[in-house]
Amino acid sequence: MLKVGFVGWRGMVGSVLMDRLQEDGEFKGIEPVFFTTSQVGQPGPDIGVDVPALKDAFDLDALKALDVIVTCQGGDYTKKVYKDLRQSGWNGYWIDAASTLRMEDEATIVLDPVNRHVIDAQLARGAKTFVGGNCTVSLMLMGLGGLFEANMVEWMTSMTYQAASGSGAKHMRELLSQMGDLRDSVVTDLANPASAILEIDRQVTARMRAGDFPTENFTAPLAGSLIPWIDSKLENGQSREEWKGFVETNKILGLGDNPVPIDGLCVRIGAMRSHSQAFTIKLKQDVPLDEIEERIAKHNDWVKLIPNDKEATIAGLTPTAATGTLDIPVGRLRKLNMGGEYLSAFSVGDQLLWGAAEPLKRMLKILRE
Ligand code: HSE
Repeated sequence: MLKVGFVGWRGMVGSVLMDRLQEDGEFKGIEPVFFTTSQVGQPGPDIGVDVPALKDAFDLDALKALDVIVTCQGGDYTKKVYKDLRQSGWNGYWIDAASTLRMEDEATIVLDPVNRHVIDAQLARGAKTFVGGNCTVSLMLMGLGGLFEANMVEWMTSMTYQAASGSGAKHMRELLSQMGDLRDSVVTDLANPASAILEIDRQVTARMRAGDFPTENFTAPLAGSLIPWIDSKLENGQSREEWKGFVETNKILGLGDNPVPIDGLCVRIGAMRSHSQAFTIKLKQDVPLDEIEERIAKHNDWVKLIPNDKEATIAGLTPTAATGTLDIPVGRLRKLNMGGEYLSAFSVGDQLLWGAAEPLKRMLKILRE
């Protein structure tokens, strides 16, 4: 039985991963050991199987005793521990949610419904480091995998509508605080149907711009607004989140020297934990829409084709519909005015499930096969 160490299992991604492992009975097939950065010696979590007391996440000797380490502790932890552990001679499997190692040659980005062939080839050549992809990239590929599999995409733009959870738990709380603050600021006028909406709007705008509006985490109002920048700025004017769309997609697909051009704008919006994306796809050929729909729908068990009509779209192609499920709804599929090779699409997916925890959970299972 594989001895598997879990680090960062109490955080947001870690908690979702724990739930998914329990739901699928995965703890029964492994020997789990839980690590902590602050509560060494305390009892491990109740996961339905016996676990030893919590061990120190920085204790290299304890980590070296493991066959597999699964970490959702974040990039700083990876930076502190990974190199020393490898240099000490540890040759176990490292499965990581953080982006730190993603673009390293020794790391494989895991999204097995899309790149099982890449994962298998890497395992066969002895690769030991497996990293979850950026959430927008993984969610895009889960939705549009059928088009990439058929080598139909010449280039693509992705315009994102990213949820608060992508920034972290504190940001989700701040979004709700902002929403509540705005509502509270006009509560009396709002209750009066005869009050003037433009006056309510003036008050709400003044609140958003006030120095004491809660923006400590986002550093800008998100409720009632949006933030068209995610992560740091690169020299070419892209944000790091936008850069990931190109480099990670092509690495996941194993396209190496022949990458598909992908670019776009990444925008934070006031959704809680499901990311949405609007795509413009230049196809290599003018393929009929029904063939496109069939390829998308058949690609994996989670993609869910949403008919391009209003009722189906507003019922099924929203963060509200997708959150907490493994579904990847894809809709708004139609040819654009620019010509038969130009396709539009819109997809949604839970940023904490297929966007973070699920590919890691499945990688652990692949190691047990
Ligand atoms: N970087 C993503 C975001 C989440 O900010 O939404 C993690 O992939």
